[in-house]
Amino acid sequence: MIREVENKMKKHYKHKDILFPVPAALIVTGDIEHANIVTVAWIGIMGSDPEVIGISLKHDRYSLNSIEKYGEFTVNIPSSSLFRQVDYCGLTSGKVVDKFSETGFSKGKSIVVNTPIIEECPLNLECKVIKAIDIGQWKIFVGEIVETQLDADCIDINEKVDINKIDPLVYIPTIREYWSIGTILGKAFDAGRCIKGNHARKLK
Ligand SMILES: Cc1cc2nc3c(=O)[nH]c(=O)nc-3n(C[C@H](O)[C@H](O)[C@H](O)COP(=O)(O)O)c2cc1C
Repeated sequence: MIREVENKMKKHYKHKDILFPVPAALIVTGDIEHANIVTVAWIGIMGSDPEVIGISLKHDRYSLNSIEKYGEFTVNIPSSSLFRQVDYCGLTSGKVVDKFSETGFSKGKSIVVNTPIIEECPLNLECKVIKAIDIGQWKIFVGEIVETQLDADCIDINEKVDINKIDPLVYIPTIREYWSIGTILGKAFDAGRCIKGNHARKLK
């Protein structure tokens, strides 16, 4: 049964491709000599075991040819303070500029793949392409995450991630703004247990 909530009205919205929030991630392609950086917001973890990530690139991106050539890429999650460099990597093309030298980012060593990581980004995922799917003007690359590096000072003594130290940059599509994350609200897989009924799964 449809139920209307008092004083609440839904409206058609002109954009369909909205999801809040999304990261603004930096993808590095190529080897150490030919490394390029591209900013992407169309990105997400697609599964665990194996750990896979999907990124979507428009066909005219310089980085797209580079991923196809090398079959690998790194995903670098910037802290919010890096938003200007992130924006720059989304405004310029590797066809005409060397984004590492222009932004001052340092090429760091990956453990498994040949494509470098961005040293200044606290979280780095090393990925090997396992699938590529053409959808209209876009190409989705599905990458297996073969290694992960995290700044040592972002891991606490209990091996937990310190999200305040990572301070990941957040992108808000349609209004095109950069934000930082807010405050902790509760624990996942737990906060919902207070809602009536006792059908919640027990955690392993
Ligand atoms: C915040 C932001 C998010 C972006 N997200 C994507 C994306 O998900 N996919 C994409 O193809 N381009 C995206 N872009 C645009 C590319 O980063 C941009 O076209 C870039 O100049 C391409 O660089 P390249 O030619 O060196 O590959 C984004 C740009 C910005 C600023």
